[in-house]
Amino acid sequence: MKSLVILISGRGSNMQALIEAGLPGRIAAVISNKPGVEGLEIARMHGIETRVVDQRAYADRVTFGAALAEEIDSCQPDLVILAGFMRILGDAFVNRYQGRLMNVHPSLLPAFPGLDTHTRALQAGVKIHGCTVHFVTPQVDHGPIIIQAAIQVLPDDTAETLAARVLQQEHRIYPEAVRWFMEGRLRLVNNHVEVSGAIADNSVLYSPGLRK
Ligand code: GAR
Repeated sequence: MKSLVILISGRGSNMQALIEAGLPGRIAAVISNKPGVEGLEIARMHGIETRVVDQRAYADRVTFGAALAEEIDSCQPDLVILAGFMRILGDAFVNRYQGRLMNVHPSLLPAFPGLDTHTRALQAGVKIHGCTVHFVTPQVDHGPIIIQAAIQVLPDDTAETLAARVLQQEHRIYPEAVRWFMEGRLRLVNNHVEVSGAIADNSVLYSPGLRK
């Protein structure tokens, strides 16, 4: 059975969605870069081991990344999941987990990488917004796209209402992407993601290169 480690920085609602999805694998640990965050408590309530690698204890990105990698590697996971992990990771860390490090981002990448995605989407006047699950590469919020979900932007939307509807979609597509990985159905071909086997939900928009 494959296993995964989930990295969080806060509320942990995506982590919770992954825990409650009943994935075909084991969640070996949840690790936060901040002590005392809500997500740690939720993980504990589900009987999952939690750890903290407090970023304030490390002088720079490199030493923090090395300490984090040590904790992760002690769990020997097949997959490492960023679920609202809000610390930028260095190249050495990202390259160490190449092809087995996933992130969820609250926009339809490559639009709106970075922070404040919902405010920026409103300012740009886009009519369609959404979220993306992708493999992590050294360039922040880039990397091969695994799955995306789109929502319509409504005339009276605020950043908060958009965030709430996008988050619902994150909670649907992240477990789906992780399930594909756990089932061995994801392949990277020329830096594009291919998914084999049946795709259940046609209300989700998928990355190009999909294989049935
Ligand atoms: C989510 O909306 C996630 O997409 C975003 O942070 C939120 C975390 O919520 N991540 C990023 O912006 C990463 N670039 P959660 O802690 O409730 O899962």
